[in-house]
Amino acid sequence: MDRIIIKGGAPLNGVIPISGAKNAALPLMTASLLTGETLELVNVPRLADVSLLLRILTNHGVDHTIVGRRPGESAETGQTLRLQAGTIIDTTAPYDLVSRMRASFWVIAPLLARFGEARVSLPGGCAIGTRPVDLLLDALTTLGADIDIEAGYVVARAPKGLRGAEIAFPKVTVSGTHVAMMAAALAHGSTLIENAACEPEIVDLADCLNKMGAKITGAGTRRIEIDGVTRLYGARHEVLPDRIETGTYAMAVAMAGGDVTLENANAVHLRSALDALEQAGAEVTATNSGLRVRRNGAVINPVDVTTAPFPGFATDLQAQFMALMTRASGVSRIRETIFENRFMHVQELARLGAKIRLDGDLAIVEGVERLRGAPVMATDLRASVSLVIAGLAAEGETTINRVYHLDRGFEALEAKLTRCGAMVERVRS
Ligand code: UD1
Repeated sequence: MDRIIIKGGAPLNGVIPISGAKNAALPLMTASLLTGETLELVNVPRLADVSLLLRILTNHGVDHTIVGRRPGESAETGQTLRLQAGTIIDTTAPYDLVSRMRASFWVIAPLLARFGEARVSLPGGCAIGTRPVDLLLDALTTLGADIDIEAGYVVARAPKGLRGAEIAFPKVTVSGTHVAMMAAALAHGSTLIENAACEPEIVDLADCLNKMGAKITGAGTRRIEIDGVTRLYGARHEVLPDRIETGTYAMAVAMAGGDVTLENANAVHLRSALDALEQAGAEVTATNSGLRVRRNGAVINPVDVTTAPFPGFATDLQAQFMALMTRASGVSRIRETIFENRFMHVQELARLGAKIRLDGDLAIVEGVERLRGAPVMATDLRASVSLVIAGLAAEGETTINRVYHLDRGFEALEAKLTRCGAMVERVRS
């Protein structure tokens, strides 16, 4: 298993290109199942999760081409995928594939909406809490599907097609909103989604579905309306920049010090996190090419944050912000309200000398003057990158084991950091 070794202490200076968003690319790829025509997706990040979803789609019979790199494009330029679900050979998504990534469960919606049936293994993915799918299944049931659980598989049937309906989510769910939008796009009649998630990735999916011929309005608000259509068509769509990758590198700069431009980043997509970073002492400015983040010598101020659905502070940036707060000049309180058990990075940060006390959904972080490098273990995607951030500022050497978690969600991480002066090396084994 690969390891990453970081020698801490170097500031970051330069340019980091921000990749296409993983959390947008995955639902967009899934949406290819809604049509027999070609869906061309531009700026898809090169990530393990993308490759895994491609395998799952191929297993259903989706043809795909990855358009080669054009002259002048760097290794960090996203790829273009062409997906065509002309003939579906199998509406089953098997356990050995779905259990590795939770988002692959979402294929249930387009398969059901277009073919009237789907058999999808119950999901796996990051070990952050129980992460149930009850709200997704309730939404599909509301749209007229019959759902059974058989030997670890969800079997969904709607032989006469789905029917538009009113779906009122009892809590905000990104996965539920994606699934409801995809299913309702091909349902008979109109659907109203109340208490919808407003994340930029939801808007990206709605934009793409509309290019494919869907009739969706209100994405980005709590109320989404969908007029079902009988078929969808091919389209071309560019994946939006990754706001979590953006926030992660912004926090890395705040931690290590320096001056970095995050190319292609969109500040509007991570206002809460940038506000917290500014309070912590970083300077953040939107530029023509993206976002410039600086911290030159200023102390890191303690800042309290509470995770919340968009536009609140993203749970996917909580671990990274906690890493930053371990070096703050005082005590900060970080509350996690989206997922239980999303504090697995705490014990690893402690190995570097961080002082963090847990009290239910609250982490109380007492800033320390210095962190010291140590061997640590990546436990989930975002937790692992928080260890990278801590390692950048720790004295000596930090070795991060089990970095396959990082490869699921961060494209060319070592290359991007090394180019800005960080001493980061991957040891393959
Ligand atoms: C997505 C993101 C993930 C991010 C999360 C919250 C992708 C691929 N993943 O995950 O990176 O951390 O949004 O911003 O886009 N819930 C239920 N029942 C359900 C579904 C969800 O109780 O049927 C709960 C979850 O356990 C969690 C909360 O709702 O407590 C939010 O989950 P959700 O927004 O659905 O997260 P994901 O879409 O899985």
